[in-house]
Amino acid sequence: MPLTREENDFLTRVSPGTPGGELLRRYWYPIALKRELNDEQPTRFVRLLGEDLVLFRDQQGRVGLLADHCAHRGASLCYGRVEERGIACAYHGWLFDTAGNVLETPPERNDAIIKHVKQPAYPVQELLGMYWAYLGPQPAPVIPHYDTFVSRRGRRKITVFPQLACNWLQAMENSVDPAHLQILHQEYIGGGRRPASTTRGFTDDVKDFDFYVSPIGIVKRRTYVDGTTDEHPLIFPNILRQSNSTQIRVPIDDTHTAHIHVIFLTTPDGSEVDEPEDPPVEYIAPYKEPADGLHPHARFNLCSVLAQDHMAWETQGPIADRTVEHLASSDRGVVLLRRLLREQIERVQQGLDPLGVQRDPDHPMIDTNLFGHAQDAVHV
Ligand code: FES
Ligand SMILES: [Fe+2]
Repeated sequence: MPLTREENDFLTRVSPGTPGGELLRRYWYPIALKRELNDEQPTRFVRLLGEDLVLFRDQQGRVGLLADHCAHRGASLCYGRVEERGIACAYHGWLFDTAGNVLETPPERNDAIIKHVKQPAYPVQELLGMYWAYLGPQPAPVIPHYDTFVSRRGRRKITVFPQLACNWLQAMENSVDPAHLQILHQEYIGGGRRPASTTRGFTDDVKDFDFYVSPIGIVKRRTYVDGTTDEHPLIFPNILRQSNSTQIRVPIDDTHTAHIHVIFLTTPDGSEVDEPEDPPVEYIAPYKEPADGLHPHARFNLCSVLAQDHMAWETQGPIADRTVEHLASSDRGVVLLRRLLREQIERVQQGLDPLGVQRDPDHPMIDTNLFGHAQDAVHV
């Protein structure tokens, strides 16, 4: 059964007050690389979950994330002057600290405003050379200790993929859609073989696939005709763990999604190593021309597995219209994800923590199947 328009909105919308947006506000998201905030550029515009924000570093080195529009009369704080005590709006100089407190109200000193007005402010943390934000209710949970984030048995690299001009759920549904691998990506997975037909690609290599819900999300498992298997988790709600990458899909707004991969290169012998505090960063060039164009005005190149995925996700539409789709049994992972998402939205509506939220700052490292599958492992 296709979804109704209301069901599609329920699962996909990300702004404050929407059911999906309230669920997504229970998790932390990377919003910028640390290198993107520096002395020359101490402020940066950020849109996350449909909210316009400004990230800044004051002259004491404290990092804040405030609503972009100044509480006075709405000028952007992106153009504010960063000072010792915070950020002063460029327009009339209202000064805000990283917690959103109003410290000054030039040209007067208006104590009522200083006491009662607050600029919306959100907590920021640093991890893996990135700033992470949490937009939900207090107390904030902790960023989960996934093995690919915290294990010392390897080194990390950050890869920034082109921003997606579509809703976040399209990328996540793809993560529980194993059937597409052998068809969409047939040019890149054959290892020199040619598929019997372009319609079926390498589908006949696969005997079966199935899914199960784990404590961190949904695991998909493919069994090949030759007896090998591969298995990796969708980490609920917005991460795919696959091979050596942890693919984080960050919902910017209803129709845009940032795409950042944490690549974890394990040491060949499993030994622990030191790595720099900020991992190296690679930026991937746009997969379409013009880079900011939308289908059908943009033309996608299909030069890699990720480029092919990017084409498939964006051409489904800014928000895929699930009222007109025709699901088949090979889409049962997609159905399972939608059901899980609906259940977790309802948990939040009941005041409960949804799947994957971690509150203990000392919780043990979480196994994301990093070392479980030798055929997937990529070694330095
Ligand atoms: S609009 Fe920011 S101080 Fe007036
Ligand atoms: Fe894919």
